[in-house]
Amino acid sequence: MSYNLLKGKRGIIFGALDENSIAWKTAERVHEEGGKFVLTNAPIAMRMGQINELAEKTGSQIVSADATSIEDLENLVEKATEILGGKLDFVLHSIGMSVNVRKGKAYTDQNYDWTTKGWDVSAVSFHKTMQTLYKKDAMNEWGSIVALTYMAAQRVFPDYNDMADNKAYLESIARSFGYFFGKEKKVRVNTISQSPTPTTAGQGVKGFGGFMAYADKMSPLGNATAIDCANYTVTLFSDLTKRVTLQNLYNDGGFSNVGVSNEVIEAFTEE
Ligand SMILES: NC(=O)c1ccc[n+]([C@@H]2O[C@H](COP(=O)([O-])OP(=O)(O)OC[C@H]3O[C@@H](n4cnc5c(N)ncnc54)[C@H](O)[C@@H]3O)[C@@H](O)[C@H]2O)c1
Repeated sequence: MSYNLLKGKRGIIFGALDENSIAWKTAERVHEEGGKFVLTNAPIAMRMGQINELAEKTGSQIVSADATSIEDLENLVEKATEILGGKLDFVLHSIGMSVNVRKGKAYTDQNYDWTTKGWDVSAVSFHKTMQTLYKKDAMNEWGSIVALTYMAAQRVFPDYNDMADNKAYLESIARSFGYFFGKEKKVRVNTISQSPTPTTAGQGVKGFGGFMAYADKMSPLGNATAIDCANYTVTLFSDLTKRVTLQNLYNDGGFSNVGVSNEVIEAFTEE
């Protein structure tokens, strides 16, 4: 169903790797709602992924950028405003990666070069993206910037490893930069804290299947899917949420406020 919520709006969508990616579903929904955008991903991901297919489907152009490189980000913002014919109304940061997780390094035995790489990709890239947009004055007033996060920033999920710290950092950057973006440019900045979702990044976490099933049983509405996340992002890009900013918003079926559910109690009850 389409409501034309994003008609006339222009933006950039980071992080569509394959059709499971949250950014992929978001691009499809933004397109259905009338938004126009440039797709971007790291050069290496573009070789592996199927982003061309998405670009074709949504009538979008692709500009590759490593989100840790200021030079790449400057080029991206310049090209995107040129291609789309004006300043931007929305940006989705849908990027996450931990080398420690990828290589199975325990939280208590970090390789700090990998830790540094992980926070640069997963958190500081959000600051770099916003700083580039800010300095180039590339956002329209009442524009909206969204990044995706996970509740391991607030609570312990042992196998989420250093991504928990990266997400805490990301959420803090959203608030801090959101202050300046709000004051100076009337642009809102929020993070969506999403349920576990079966994507390439999600499935990299050890024990992901059990973790997902547990979250589903704990959530009164069940886990939020990638499409649910895409829909929520559309509302945050739309004019219906103009003064929602500096927030970490849970899209998690209620998981974050549940202590225990009947299903979980039953699983531990001895007859
Ligand atoms: N899947 C989940 O369970 C879940 C839950 C909550 C939040 N999130 C967050 O959602 C976001 C999207 O992840 P996803 O689950 O769709 O997985 P995904 O693997 O499809 O997307 C991650 C993206 O990050 C991109 N990326 C990595 N390094 C990059 C770099 N240097 N420059 C630019 N792009 C880079 C990858 O190419 C990929 O497209 C991430 O921030 C992730 O942490 C995911």
